[in-house]
Amino acid sequence: MHVGPETIDYDVLLAGVKGDIGFTSKDFVDAMNYSLKYLRKLMGADESYQPFIIPGGGTSAMESVTSLLKKGDKVLVVSNGVFGDRWTSIFSRYPVEVKTVKAKAGYYVKPEEIEDEIKKEGGKVKLVTLTHVETSTGIREPIEEVSKRIRDYTDLIVVDGVSSVGAEVVKAKDWNIDVYLTASQKAIATPPGAGLLVLSQNALKYLDDNVAGYYLNLKNWINVMQSMENGKASYFSTLPVHLVLMLKKAFELIEAEGIENRIKRHELVSSAIRKGLEGMGLEIVAKAPDAYSNTVTGVKVSKVNPNDVLSAITQEGIELAPGVHPDLAGKYFRIGHMGWVNLNDAISTISALERVMKKLGEPINYGEGVKAIQDFLS
Ligand SMILES: Cc1ncc(COP(=O)(O)O)c(C=O)c1O
Repeated sequence: MHVGPETIDYDVLLAGVKGDIGFTSKDFVDAMNYSLKYLRKLMGADESYQPFIIPGGGTSAMESVTSLLKKGDKVLVVSNGVFGDRWTSIFSRYPVEVKTVKAKAGYYVKPEEIEDEIKKEGGKVKLVTLTHVETSTGIREPIEEVSKRIRDYTDLIVVDGVSSVGAEVVKAKDWNIDVYLTASQKAIATPPGAGLLVLSQNALKYLDDNVAGYYLNLKNWINVMQSMENGKASYFSTLPVHLVLMLKKAFELIEAEGIENRIKRHELVSSAIRKGLEGMGLEIVAKAPDAYSNTVTGVKVSKVNPNDVLSAITQEGIELAPGVHPDLAGKYFRIGHMGWVNLNDAISTISALERVMKKLGEPINYGEGVKAIQDFLS
């Protein structure tokens, strides 16, 4: 029940157990081919979008977005927490102009506030970044609504879907998003090591003459991706070959479950967990139910040290994640519910939390959390 890396299915792990696999091998090229195509489907993109699988993870995918920027471009970062702020840190390393609009911890920046912010910047910016689910607090941004509001005021809309893709509704094309990105270790539930992106045709126009460096410059990777999708090996820098074999297996499992079913399962498990927390009388970090995410829930504590909760519940066989938002330091922890989580995980987590918190002295309604889940489910 961590916020990533997630528990990995054994069939996925075993798919990577290959002693002898090169970057030109048929197995690898086939796995790239399948995974690139599947990425479009998972992101709600059509054939016109270019998929990328690059080494690294969420942050390498984020930094590769500098491949779309020229010197002096104006970028607006919409930040709901730690990972939103990461965009500001990245862009500050490049010769572009960065503005950041921030939400208080537990809230998201409203679509109208983003529009107002762009209007303050003269009504036009080159690129806007959004974080679909802010992992530091579990807050979900309403991407479709934001895109409708700001599409005319910006050339490019980029969405960090690291904690959403594979667990939330994602519709890159219908929502008119230029870049949707994620990482291998979250709701897709493969090991860490790859950044995954899709770019619209509009985004691809900006690849020439950009401020990005060498390794994360998507201009250097695009031929490899196109070649692999045509079934031909190609090289720019060595890709994480074993991980890509696992990615293919994970995508096959996702396809077998069905993307919509997978999203519904995440919605059900996350709702059950929140019912349990409410039954216990605990406060959720996300302030408005429309900001609840399918993947992460921040939980506030009033008396105990959240790190003590994490240590004690690990002894019960459940791993949760620490709170990382600086404004809420020492006041909360996080429950991750993504990947292969099910209702039994939700019930075990809440029942273990009840025992642990009672023992540590946090005031809770003992037994009411599990009951609230049972009532919710029946
Ligand atoms: C929303 C979000 N964006 C970006 C990242 C960075 O990803 P990585 O740690 O793979 O670099 C994370 C990591 O947790 C994240 O949750």
